[in-house]
Amino acid sequence: MNILFLGDIIGKPGRDVVHSELPRLRQRLKLDFVIANGENAAGGFGLTRAVAEEFFAMGIDVISTGNHWADQKEILTYIDNEDRILRPVNYPKGTPGRGANLYKTPSGQSVLVINVMGRVFMDALDDPFRAVDAELEACPLGEAADAIIVDLHAETTSEKMAMGHFCDGRASLVVGTHTHVPTADAQIFPGGTAYQTDAGACADYDSVIGMDKAEPLQRFTRKMSSQRFSPATGPATLCGVFVQTGASGLASRIEPVRAGGRLKPSLPEL
Ligand SMILES: [Fe+2]
Ligand SMILES: [Fe+2]
Repeated sequence: MNILFLGDIIGKPGRDVVHSELPRLRQRLKLDFVIANGENAAGGFGLTRAVAEEFFAMGIDVISTGNHWADQKEILTYIDNEDRILRPVNYPKGTPGRGANLYKTPSGQSVLVINVMGRVFMDALDDPFRAVDAELEACPLGEAADAIIVDLHAETTSEKMAMGHFCDGRASLVVGTHTHVPTADAQIFPGGTAYQTDAGACADYDSVIGMDKAEPLQRFTRKMSSQRFSPATGPATLCGVFVQTGASGLASRIEPVRAGGRLKPSLPEL
């Protein structure tokens, strides 16, 4: 199976680059399934119904999120009835929505997507390792799912790498989100799980992690805030990872993907 995972789509510039690049990538990479992290898609904070519909129309099959999942309160009115949107699985019991779900591709293959949040330098949620373990045990790769993708939304590289190894041999891909900067460590672990510490963001990189740089600079240099953060508005770079799986569901290939905007392009060929 050919699967594309896109990192945090930030505001309109992020949505625009996905809109312009995804059709080409779909053809070039013969994509069976597309997942995107949408936690910053609506003005940099959260996800509205309208933006989610825009993503589904673009060919994104599943939208994962992270700590900003509920910044737009309207999501609380529809996430229970929209199984194509995930919030991190390790929120307290009773939180609206779901953190993992099994999907079918048009050709009839099944893909389990798990969205989980780290807890080092982040809000103290339930144990992400235990939460992911429970999902992997309930739906084993190669038996109940043809592919398993884990979006680990976390701050530290150590927690992310540890999760990658924790899932090695049990997931097709473990990929990080949240830091909004792509890492250069795409690899397949010894057990067959593809891994990249952070997918990067679909955002304007003339920015501070996707946000207009003026306000972050002001806060860093003067310790004062003067306005809300807002997405930088220049041309964005699409950032993500492409993973190919074999019959076992494990990865046979992982490639970073970058297109458009300021970052050096990385466009794998099939
Ligand atoms: Fe984000
Ligand atoms: Fe985040």
